[in-house]
Amino acid sequence: MATTSIPEDSFLGRHQFLLYRLFSLAGFIPVGAFLIVHLLTNASVLGGAAAFQSRVDLIHSLGPLLPAVEWIFIFIPMLFHAVMGFVIIATGVPNIGSYSYQGNVRYTLQRATGMIAFAFILWHITQLHWMGAPVGGGQFDPHHAASSAAVALKPVAITLLYATGIIATVYHFANGLWSMGITWGIWTSPAAMQRANWLSLFVGIGLGAAGLGALGGMRSIDVEKAKEIETRMYKARQMLDGGISAEAQQHSAHAVSLSRESSSVMPAGSTSSANKEKRSKKKD
Ligand code: HEM
Repeated sequence: MATTSIPEDSFLGRHQFLLYRLFSLAGFIPVGAFLIVHLLTNASVLGGAAAFQSRVDLIHSLGPLLPAVEWIFIFIPMLFHAVMGFVIIATGVPNIGSYSYQGNVRYTLQRATGMIAFAFILWHITQLHWMGAPVGGGQFDPHHAASSAAVALKPVAITLLYATGIIATVYHFANGLWSMGITWGIWTSPAAMQRANWLSLFVGIGLGAAGLGALGGMRSIDVEKAKEIETRMYKARQMLDGGISAEAQQHSAHAVSLSRESSSVMPAGSTSSANKEKRSKKKD
């Protein structure tokens, strides 16, 4: 559909096939897969603040591993896809003027929504993710998931920006699924492409409903009530964690007394740490 102006002897020119395949794959897995999980997780707010909080808790149970998981499976593949996307846009020629049929409109919309998605995702991360805190963002509190999101999304202008960003990103992914099938030679006949159109439409409508439903759900949260529920859940988790660590301490105290008992029946020269400890004490 487009002519490209990538010099053949450049890095991009020499590895165009592989880079394009990786770009295409990244759009589907992990970035597209993440988009699906993310929108469905957010839509759980329609089941109430507790339902959303328990899903957020599940994600945050990764603890210190979470940033690494985010960078490896989300941010880096997304950055790679976006950088490649901008290169494709800069070097490809949208030819909507020459042939105005549905395919060309979709081709141009794919590029336009990619750029909107980029701006939206950057802003969204700054506004809600803790990484945005130094610049006045980072408004999402994982211990008060629904209430903090509700406060951040409440202003009408913000809601409208979110609605635009969600629609653009979902369109980009759903239409991208169709073009991805062409890239990988999954649908080649006109009949198969037609069926793929239905698949894209189905995915687009489903994800659009989840994304916009989540937005509506967040906005309709009663913030004070949600805070109460979240605080109760937070305390319950702390008690559980405290209970578990107290139990663990009891276990380790029990283990120490067992090892002391067993060390008294171990033969001399045994390598047990209790014996080593005893020996070093004797030396002192
Ligand atoms: C949630 C974020 C995103 C997802 C899930 C996603 C997904 C996809 C998928 C599945 C494709 C189809 C690949 C193919 O045709 O083989 C695609 C194409 C494309 N994406 Fe993205 N993308 C995202 C963000 C972006 C961003 C931020 C940009 C930056 C501009 C971008 C630019 C493009 C472009 C230009 C294409 C069309 C390539 C072509 O037709 O040759 N995408 N995307």
